[in-house]
Amino acid sequence: MLIAANFKTFKTRQETLDYYRDVRTFIEKNKITVESMIFPPATALNTFKGATVVGAQNAYAVENGAFTGEIGLNQLKEFGIKTILIGHSERRHILGESQELMVQKFDFFKEQGFTIVYCIGEPLEVREEGSETLMAYLDEQLEGIDLNYENLVIAYEPVWAIGTGLTPSTDEVELIHTALRQKIKAPILYGGSVKVNNAQELLSLNNVDGALIGSGALQAENFCRILEIAEGLQK
Ligand code: PGA
Repeated sequence: MLIAANFKTFKTRQETLDYYRDVRTFIEKNKITVESMIFPPATALNTFKGATVVGAQNAYAVENGAFTGEIGLNQLKEFGIKTILIGHSERRHILGESQELMVQKFDFFKEQGFTIVYCIGEPLEVREEGSETLMAYLDEQLEGIDLNYENLVIAYEPVWAIGTGLTPSTDEVELIHTALRQKIKAPILYGGSVKVNNAQELLSLNNVDGALIGSGALQAENFCRILEIAEGLQK
């Protein structure tokens, strides 16, 4: 099982260091074996020593170059970062990144052997059209992505569940993960309003291999509690 925290545009470098230290202490003290990852903002990337993997929320598909406001492979290499989030709905919908760009990033970082947490998820209007439309939408987001890549992790995150406190029913989550499992052997995380109080039921579902968590994991203490829940369910 894998528990990942996405800090988005929260936390400074110092706050990230404090968070990492608290999580590391907890993991060591409680002998947690569940895999964990955090995605701090680019300004807080650092060389971290501990079991929790640190990844980038985003990077441009380039070693370096003239891409104002972006970071590339060399800026990640400085800190030994080998994990990246690609396709998060906030990048697709707020920053307007296309599927074509996702594929470009995916191929570049795959070539570099990165662990790629690739996010997919449908907006509410798609969900309301029923499961066939929903699965077709998810398929489009998987277009051009090598699903057999050995360092791939998928995160299924319904857009309308992100940061809203809403989640699909557990039956719905299980159904979608099970449908995805037919074509994806990689671990499939669920994301979208995962919190300490619903982690147990979501993580217990068939074909849910972990969680990608935003607001519910912003406090190190909550991330640790979710790690503890996952440890109890370790499958
Ligand atoms: P949330 O965000 O847990 O705040 O809903 C999840 C995500 O965006 O990865």
